Amino acid sequence: MKCPSRLIVFILSLSFCAEAKLVEDDSSGFADFSRTNVNEFNNKPITFSYPVPRWLKGTLIRNGRARYEMGQRSFTNAFDGFGKLHSFTFYSNGTVSMSARFLQTEYYKQSLATNTIAPYFQFGKLVPPYNEMEKIESLKNQMENLNVNVYRIRDSKTGVSIVPYIKSIITLYRMTSVGDREEIVPWDIEAQTYMHSFSVTKNYVIFIGQPVSIDIMKVAEYDLITTSVSAESFKPSKNNSFANNLDMPTINENFRHVKYCYAYGLVLKADNKNFNKWALVKKDVCRVDGDLSWVIDNHYPSEAWFEPTPNSSREDDGVLMTHVFDGIKKESYLVLINATTMETMNKAILPTTMPFSFHGRFFQDN
Ligand SMILES: [Fe+2]
Repeated sequence: MKCPSRLIVFILSLSFCAEAKLVEDDSSGFADFSRTNVNEFNNKPITFSYPVPRWLKGTLIRNGRARYEMGQRSFTNAFDGFGKLHSFTFYSNGTVSMSARFLQTEYYKQSLATNTIAPYFQFGKLVPPYNEMEKIESLKNQMENLNVNVYRIRDSKTGVSIVPYIKSIITLYRMTSVGDREEIVPWDIEAQTYMHSFSVTKNYVIFIGQPVSIDIMKVAEYDLITTSVSAESFKPSKNNSFANNLDMPTINENFRHVKYCYAYGLVLKADNKNFNKWALVKKDVCRVDGDLSWVIDNHYPSEAWFEPTPNSSREDDGVLMTHVFDGIKKESYLVLINATTMETMNKAILPTTMPFSFHGRFFQDN
């Protein structure tokens, strides 16, 4: 297999094009992937290289953050950037359009109006910090930068709340609309554990109780004590040994309640060395050596979404879609990847750059 310039070749697996060597520490574009982009627009057409499958009908929404300063004040924690949504509407006639807009929260609107970061809670420090009056005001306003995920609440959905500090309680809710929630069950837990999300079967809700609890008071004192922790992992496959390190996992949502074999996720620093080696992997949790990956040096993908081919029962028959930042050309593109082979099917250069996004989902038009 002849491998042309590493800038244009699509490397299907790390072993496939071993001669496409990286320049050590050449992490071009890595920092640019998290820069402010204030562009906002509605329904700009985007053009793919090849025809788009007609069965793709709906809107892919990606959520993340895209503004790290306002006026003279800046955030220092990546989670604090002002939330921004990007959407891609597939019209089922071969055309696709893109929109970009900041979340119109009171926090964002007030920050724009005063040309500084309005007094609310953040994860990290601000530069320059709030004055005493602003600190008091932020206590009242709390946190209102909803950049984590997007859901359509049309039918009943379950949600959960965790009350930390003095007593730890988990409460399970059923949400019947954005504003209405019905309490199903609250229960006390001995200690608060890190719980990012929960899973479901047809009849049960599953919470993963991590074997590590968080003592908020100790954290506040920076007095962290580590006891021994052991970890188990899948056997690494020969050609994609890094696939076990995936984060931001997604699956075929038709397999949400049943046994599945494929999880798609991101591996940063896939070679364990370079920041420009990001892999989008397909982890086969049923077979050793079934893992595949999609890697292009200096191209930075975000979490992928799997959209199944209609009427197909094969779990990996579908399209993986995500946006990718080309760190060399400093432009973003939306890519459609064949989930069976992890080969690029189609891509469209976007009219603006898109920073790293947290999550998102495809909302089918019914
Ligand atoms: Fe998350």
